Amino acid sequence: MKKPLENCTFVIIGATGNLARTKLMPALYHLYVDDLLPKDIHILGIARSIADRKEWLAELKTDLKERARGGLDESIFEGFCRRLDCLRSGLKTKEDYRLLSDYIGQQKFSNNIAFYFSLPPSMYASIATSLSEVNLLTEDQGWRRVVVEKPFGSDLETARNLQRHFERYLKESQIYRIDHYLGKETVQNVQVFRFANLLLEPLWNRNYIDHVQISHAETIGIGSRSAYYDGIGALRDMIQSHLLQLLSLVAMEPPVSMQAEDLRDEKVKLLRSISPIAKGAVSSHAFRAQYAAGDVKGNAIKSYLQEDNIPQDSVCETYAALKLYINNWRWRGVPFYLRTGKRMKEKHSMIAICFRQTPKQFFRTSQVEQFKPNWLLIGIQPDESLRIELTVKKPGLDMKTKVISLDASFNDEEGRDGYEGLLLDVMEGDHSLFLRADEVEASWKIIDPVLHSWSSQQDYIQTYPAASWGPDEALRLFEKEGQYWRSSLEPE
Ligand code: BG6
Repeated sequence: MKKPLENCTFVIIGATGNLARTKLMPALYHLYVDDLLPKDIHILGIARSIADRKEWLAELKTDLKERARGGLDESIFEGFCRRLDCLRSGLKTKEDYRLLSDYIGQQKFSNNIAFYFSLPPSMYASIATSLSEVNLLTEDQGWRRVVVEKPFGSDLETARNLQRHFERYLKESQIYRIDHYLGKETVQNVQVFRFANLLLEPLWNRNYIDHVQISHAETIGIGSRSAYYDGIGALRDMIQSHLLQLLSLVAMEPPVSMQAEDLRDEKVKLLRSISPIAKGAVSSHAFRAQYAAGDVKGNAIKSYLQEDNIPQDSVCETYAALKLYINNWRWRGVPFYLRTGKRMKEKHSMIAICFRQTPKQFFRTSQVEQFKPNWLLIGIQPDESLRIELTVKKPGLDMKTKVISLDASFNDEEGRDGYEGLLLDVMEGDHSLFLRADEVEASWKIIDPVLHSWSSQQDYIQTYPAASWGPDEALRLFEKEGQYWRSSLEPE
């Protein structure tokens, strides 16, 4: 049984932005519905564009009507609103921060305060400085925690600078670098699946595994996020954080324990074992592209360059693929392929592990096709599942085979979002599912050579039609002829 949570104040800086509206507020509402929040919590939303409390709550209600699991319950929503406060402020000047500090003091909010920086990463450093100047980060009367989204920095150097800046005002124990993928049910299940079952461990290495694919595809484009996305791109937005986290969970050694530091030590060790991509080898290890116009069932879809506020010469990638090798005893020589794309044909994220071919194809003469290798598929979304593909005999007199899939699907009926558990972890002070500074640094080291190479090629980017599986040219990353991206959990 977990201890009941201490009372706290949860401050969202940037409360009217996309993240707060689509993820944070729905997550807090769901936690409230499930009675998991501290009883006297205050949630304080701060934004320049908040007109007044009434209007803010009305907008929140509209958002939650669309997003609340099982629909919005009016009476529960009323109770939730009693826990909410808002402050209209651009948090630009010293005076703004002084007013914030006074406001928190006057309202008699709890002195345990979490600040969620739900703003562009370029603002993190100045917010930390300003909060510290009005003593809001000092832990003399209660804990003070800061939650930041990825990307933490925009490359290795800026991440190090930001870290040095944070260290002036915050202890590492006060910083929560969030990666919402670590809050996803199936992602957590990767650890349980690997470390609570003996069956797979003997196979989990270079002797049996041919290659690993970690793939994230979404049908949405960049929507209203041009200010954030252009200049960030898919490599920083998805691969540097979420997909490298998935890779480290799949490939790391068993940790000493499941405690935060032991777990993070193992992930860092794994990330540090990834072979650096040499400057001259970027094109054989990385691929980028941008969505062009397309259509779905006759409905036209805009190209990236037609999205609002995108410069017409932007070469920002909306699709990125990477091939990495882990230079350790377990994985040496096994390619790990990572892929992400916006405006893809279907929404799907999965980890696909392809085993080696059997050493001898016994039944080759009696059937047309060569045996398919075994695959182990971990569906992350929309299907949360675990499937193992095996070749079996087709019933009948002929020696014919087919591929079947052993399905251990575990869809979370509740459809919880990764943010719910992670916000609770912040309130509880549990860092296990948050990134440590050295982990972020190790991730930037991996992708820095690619970022630098791409940033020097500003005159051209390959395109792919919206609503497609991305450019075929990305197949060139595969080491072997005939290999392809798995895009489905169904046997192929
Ligand atoms: C975010 C990225 O971190 O993750 C978005 O900034 C992306 O661009 C999103 O769409 C994907 O998350 P999920 O949970 O929908 O796969």
